[in-house]
Amino acid sequence: KYKGDFRIFENVDELATGLVDYIAEISEMSVKERGFFSIALSGGSLISFMGKLCEAPYNKTVDWGKWHIFWVDERVVAKNHVDSNYKLAKEVLLSKVPILPSHVYSINDNVSAEEAASEYEFVLRQLVKTRTVNVSESNDCPKFDLILLGMGPDGHIASLFPWHASLDLKDDWVTYITDSPKPPPERITFTLPVINSASNVAVAVSGAAKAVAVKLVIDGYCKESTEFATALPARKVQPSDGQLVWFLDNEAASKLDSV
Ligand code: 6PG
Repeated sequence: KYKGDFRIFENVDELATGLVDYIAEISEMSVKERGFFSIALSGGSLISFMGKLCEAPYNKTVDWGKWHIFWVDERVVAKNHVDSNYKLAKEVLLSKVPILPSHVYSINDNVSAEEAASEYEFVLRQLVKTRTVNVSESNDCPKFDLILLGMGPDGHIASLFPWHASLDLKDDWVTYITDSPKPPPERITFTLPVINSASNVAVAVSGAAKAVAVKLVIDGYCKESTEFATALPARKVQPSDGQLVWFLDNEAASKLDSV
């Protein structure tokens, strides 16, 4: 049985409000407990939902100076390229709230995917040593306070796609792919062990196009699809001792019968 908390909203706008309320809550809790908040962002519509954090009351209540921002995955393109998750996040959020630039961990866009992945992993290992990012006792993985995921219609999360070898990595924290079915082809991405070591994982999914994948992941079956539920990367997101919350709009949840 796929474990998680499933929150269903009338529409995308209410989903976005529910998501930013949750992010603000986790941020406050993390800052209170440890003095800072480590959050990792995925790309896509998730980032546009976060735009609400620039509005009242979040822009005043969130302790922005305590945020440390990471990327769950990033496309291997220049930071000012239209496909860059960093560019999107900067436009939507990072340029509008007082986050310290040095707390936004940017990925090197001047090197190959392989080098960018190993550099990012090296930086993470340093940050775990200094406890800027917590560490998971069970597997020494970085333990982010919050990992934010979107999901594709094929059940992919981050840049981990169905049947891809990257899903089986156990020791790497960051890997790279050059054959992403979702363009652009070159990406670097957290591996599943890092995602499942987080204190909190949130998956934000909207739209009817994803309703079959949502049902396969959460209910574990779906008569309209030939996909194998177990193969879907999103179904492998089961934090070992963290909390998992799904934020769905009615359309994405329209085929569910178990929540
Ligand atoms: C990326 C993302 C990817 C994304 C999903 C959902 O960089 O492409 O990390 O995993 O979150 O594809 O994207 P949408 O919400 O825009 O459909």
